Amino acid sequence: MRIPVVAANFKMNTTVAEAFELVTSMKKRLNRLSGVERVLCPPFISLVPVKEVIKGTSIKLGAQNMFYERSGAFTGEISPVMLAQICDYVILGHSERRARFGDTDEIVNKKLKAALAFGLAPIVCVGETLEQNEGGETIEVINRQVKAAFDGIDAFRDTVIAYEPIWAIGTGKAARGDQANAVIRVIRGALSKLYGDDAGQTVRIQYGGSVTASNIAEFISQPDVDGALVGGASLKAEEFLSIVEQTAKIKST
Ligand code: PGA
Repeated sequence: MRIPVVAANFKMNTTVAEAFELVTSMKKRLNRLSGVERVLCPPFISLVPVKEVIKGTSIKLGAQNMFYERSGAFTGEISPVMLAQICDYVILGHSERRARFGDTDEIVNKKLKAALAFGLAPIVCVGETLEQNEGGETIEVINRQVKAAFDGIDAFRDTVIAYEPIWAIGTGKAARGDQANAVIRVIRGALSKLYGDDAGQTVRIQYGGSVTASNIAEFISQPDVDGALVGGASLKAEEFLSIVEQTAKIKST
């Protein structure tokens, strides 16, 4: 039984006051749900205030990125040690970081090792570009990214994977449920190859890319989709609540 996980990726949105207000407005209904893990990933500077808001609830907190070194002369960076004091989760290898901030497969691998070493639950993002998708390279790209992310990690430890086709992120053009499910099965296959069938069956894999309250049901009713990584729609309280509530309902039936 895989417990679905829905994560809100605020990205570089919300001031501290706005994040505080948004989370305050969602807290009660989010806390009431069971059978679905709920993770909020505000910007770094809002982590501590949001942690205060969700104190005593079952809502989890996540960061959107981190550096892999534990401390030192790395101006502007945040370390796994710092995050481990505050957060449960950390998003790694988001396509925006890969495309805009130089996060290569090797860097994602170092970050994944660091997150696991310091007790943070990683959400590792993988996904193909439109060009790769149209060129029929999706499976190859996904297999390569998964293999590279887990390089040198001998045993599988609870890691969430987010399949986020880059062409679907922030575009309003989500993948189809069956397309997402097919790629997610490829990811399960890659994990099975690396760590055995058990890992492939137990790993939780989210879909991400233009998820809304109107299309979440299509994804979550797929057998291999274990939740969603939600960007834009997580900034609207009613919409995000509906996404999480539909996930809980559909996965419990
Ligand atoms: P989106 O972003 O929901 O705004 O498409 C998803 C993500 O990048 O995690």
